[in-house]
Amino acid sequence: MSKSRFSGVVQGPPDPILNLGVMFRADPHPKKVNLGIGAYRNAELKPEILQCVRKAEEFIYKHPETYTKEYLPLEGYVPFLKEAQKLIFGPDHVALKEGRVCSIQELSGSGSLLISADFMHRLLGINKIYIPNPTWGNHGALIGKALCETEKYTYLGADGLYIDFEGMKKDFLAMPDGSVILLHACAHNPSGVDLNEEQWRELLPIFKKKQHLPYFDCAYQGFATGDLDKDAMAMRLFADEGIEFIICQSLSKNMGLYGERCGAIHIHTVDKETADRVASQVKRIVRATHSVSPCHGAYIASVVLGTPELFELFKEEVKKMAGRLLDMRKKIYDALSKTAPEKNWDHVIYQRGMFSFTGLDSHQVKMLADEYHIYMVSSGRMALTGLNDGNIQYVADSIKAEEVKKMAGRLLDMRKKIYDALSKTAPEKNWDHVIYQRGMFSFTGLDSHQVKMLADEYHIYMVSSGRMALTGLNDGNIQYVADSIKAVLDKTAKK
Ligand SMILES: Cc1ncc(COP(=O)(O)O)c(C=O)c1O
Repeated sequence: MSKSRFSGVVQGPPDPILNLGVMFRADPHPKKVNLGIGAYRNAELKPEILQCVRKAEEFIYKHPETYTKEYLPLEGYVPFLKEAQKLIFGPDHVALKEGRVCSIQELSGSGSLLISADFMHRLLGINKIYIPNPTWGNHGALIGKALCETEKYTYLGADGLYIDFEGMKKDFLAMPDGSVILLHACAHNPSGVDLNEEQWRELLPIFKKKQHLPYFDCAYQGFATGDLDKDAMAMRLFADEGIEFIICQSLSKNMGLYGERCGAIHIHTVDKETADRVASQVKRIVRATHSVSPCHGAYIASVVLGTPELFELFKEEVKKMAGRLLDMRKKIYDALSKTAPEKNWDHVIYQRGMFSFTGLDSHQVKMLADEYHIYMVSSGRMALTGLNDGNIQYVADSIKAEEVKKMAGRLLDMRKKIYDALSKTAPEKNWDHVIYQRGMFSFTGLDSHQVKMLADEYHIYMVSSGRMALTGLNDGNIQYVADSIKAVLDKTAKK
């Protein structure tokens, strides 16, 4: 056989998120659960075409003279863009009336991110874009494709579950003036943790003072609160302040148009002349990347958003989808709080949108897949859309089992470490009983006088019988405990 021109091409790794679906489909287990998907599923865990979309399609098929298969103009389907703008800014926003927003249709959120980053690199000389830590797994790759590097800014605190707003502001202030900062407009993926209105308002003067460029990724409008207007709050606050910014809008999730690749870039500028100039350059990049955008999704969205009855139906359907996710969030929270009460699950109910950061580590996530056939992203992100009344308790029970194992593993680790430390630090005494015992406690063999001395002199507290709870130990205090026990033993040794 002749040598292939491609023989030097090494096998690429599978996409970490998309591959979960492949693993899930290949798993024959009857109780398998897919908590990895980033797409809405109904209570039967099936994908759904929205009624408003079906009705719009019927209308489109009846009017082939309007909805042709011709190439769209470079900016995209203009009636769609007008409606898409209104969805973000609100129908009567002054920026729209003054023509200060230029909009270019793109291949949904992903295409919008790629083209807008490319635009910023080529036309604004941007080489770095700041992204939250954590963020959607594809941000770095898409922005990297536009030859911009990414740097993470503080988003969640050390617990990985709640916002670190002070850390975030500190990072924004420390960045060079004029930095581009990617912000999730709502329903942050993967954490489900959003800023509240007051916090967004606090960011406005920082962006103004530092002249940073807000770069909104709006992939889940409607999924955070169930209300499209409320979920646009952050972007509207910046618009009302007259701050220039870029939005990458996706209709994949809220209109269920995933495969249609429907979305837009909106650039909010100071005046119409600027908006027109900017649009002319973005269009050149679109032309050189994929020429034009697809028409069908844009037709659908223009009919749904532009027909009052269909728009009302759309709002209702978004509310219903967000409502099911919220219901699942509450139910998994209740089930986990009841089934695994040794751990606090409040973060689950505090988060919003399609996902919940469970706080499970990557080892636990792997065990959930291997032993319980439950698939989620290795960061511990659970897609609530994979839950229904039939599998919630199974998921909670499986998580509980993994939590118990993790706890038992930690206790055993602490038992081994305190045994090693005591055997080395106080070898005159035999400590084999410590390693021989099991569970949460260890009977040290210290008497009540020695226990009191440990408390009084070394601030180490245990039950007077000498029972030590291993849960109070960690790598940072084990040697101190061993040294203190050694000191007490020396002081109380019979002369
Ligand atoms: C935060 C975020 N941005 C953008 C996207 C892009 O999706 P699409 O290209 O389908 O609009 C996703 C999809 O999961 C996402 O989660």
